[in-house]
Amino acid sequence: MARSAASTEGTGKTLAMSQPYDRTYNFSAGPCTLPVPVLEQARDELLNHQGAGMSVLEMSHRSDPFEAILAQAQADLRALLSIPANYKVLFLQGGASLQFSMIPMCFLRGGTCDHVVTGSWGDRAVESACLEGCVNRIFDAKATRYDRVPDLHSLAYDPNAAYMQFTSNETIQGVQFKGDPSLKQTVICDMSSDILSRPVDVSRYAVVFAGAQKNMGPAGATVVIMREDMFERVPQNMHPMLDYRLQAENDSMYNTPPCFSIYMCGLVYRYTLANGGVAAAQKASREKSDLIYRAIDGSGDFYEGHAQRDCRSTMNVTFRLPSDELTGAFVKEAATLKLDGLKGHRSVGGIRASIYNAFPLEGCQVMADFMGDFAKRKG
Ligand SMILES: Cc1ncc(COP(=O)(O)O)c(C=O)c1O
Repeated sequence: MARSAASTEGTGKTLAMSQPYDRTYNFSAGPCTLPVPVLEQARDELLNHQGAGMSVLEMSHRSDPFEAILAQAQADLRALLSIPANYKVLFLQGGASLQFSMIPMCFLRGGTCDHVVTGSWGDRAVESACLEGCVNRIFDAKATRYDRVPDLHSLAYDPNAAYMQFTSNETIQGVQFKGDPSLKQTVICDMSSDILSRPVDVSRYAVVFAGAQKNMGPAGATVVIMREDMFERVPQNMHPMLDYRLQAENDSMYNTPPCFSIYMCGLVYRYTLANGGVAAAQKASREKSDLIYRAIDGSGDFYEGHAQRDCRSTMNVTFRLPSDELTGAFVKEAATLKLDGLKGHRSVGGIRASIYNAFPLEGCQVMADFMGDFAKRKG
């Protein structure tokens, strides 16, 4: 297994210890690294899934083994997030991006909604919602390059709004809300990039959605957790594939679901449950992100964090170097240590280290050592 880096200070040679299977430290924002034991199980079951005589890749979604996979995945996600009985768990397609359309198509329909925009994904959600009704941007941090989140309890909500929507963790900018709001409003949350990284009080939300490809599994499935009364709000003339009620009535199998992605999510849920659940994930995420934030804060002004300190994400750490040239050199040198996927999103620049649940602590230590060493040499 990987161990921490042996740093040869001042020479630029931070020696990363090898990971199993000679894997890189994959800091990609998603799709991203998955737990090695989960990948091993998927490998072992690939040709013959638990005696079914075929792979999940080949199996009918109407077969008993796949129905069992789906039911177990739903049950395990319920257990992980303590999802109350009056909520349904759906596995849909189209990514979190399709939720940006389905939500206003089903729940806005010419009315008004409130959006709290703390980054690029929240902004995208507004673009789609505007096609279906009137959107109040009741908070928008664009002027400060999305470096902060507000206190959701201090905002002025429209009493006539059909719902309020926000993004718990903005993947591109690396800003994160630290808890669940307690509001009278119908609250809808995009948790794509921090679901399963902390305990969540699902009862505070009417709808939670998240693409699979960060903390849950490979791309393909989108999880939607919806309070049952919301289904009654869906208009009768909705397109079938966009109709939450129909999707729920068909247990996410109105059409062929993303079977393999659901299977992989199920394995990740099992693995997460067996390893202390979301409370353990939260502790590990804090530990991992602290290593990198400490390297930023301890660098003098060499590294500049993007997010304000109290809004820092435990999932996506974003920071800048003094110049584009140094940023390029940083990424290039990091790659020689198998630190991969660090280039920041083009809209923010700099560096983004995405450290989702499956990202190993050792990788953050290697990264922090490298950051310290690089700053010493180039600062
Ligand atoms: C917070 C957030 N919302 C939405 C999306 C869009 O997800 P998808 O690519 O699954 O449509 C992403 C993708 O990274 C994201 O991070």
